[in-house]
Amino acid sequence: AKITFITQDNESITLEADSGSVMALAVENGVKGIDGDCGGVCSCATCHVHVNPNQVAQAGAASEIEADMLELDDNANEFSRLCCQIEITEDLDGLELTVAN
Ligand code: FES
Repeated sequence: AKITFITQDNESITLEADSGSVMALAVENGVKGIDGDCGGVCSCATCHVHVNPNQVAQAGAASEIEADMLELDDNANEFSRLCCQIEITEDLDGLELTVAN
């Protein structure tokens, strides 16, 4: 699936992968603002992204643990996800994610 990241500098980066987490894809390719400090176990929120509002259904909902983690983040809104918790499948093709502060 092709996934586009929009950084805080307004840079648009489109990457492609068949599997793995969205966080891993971003970190491997040096997407600015996605640090993945906890290694993808949903405990650091350095992989926070905002899903394009038109694609919320495509991205899927946050789990309870993920939602609890997001609640601690002042920049979180209804489009927030922790992208280590998004597993890449073909269904995500065309997904657009804005890197959160
Ligand atoms: Fe730590 Fe996603 S990488 S919460």
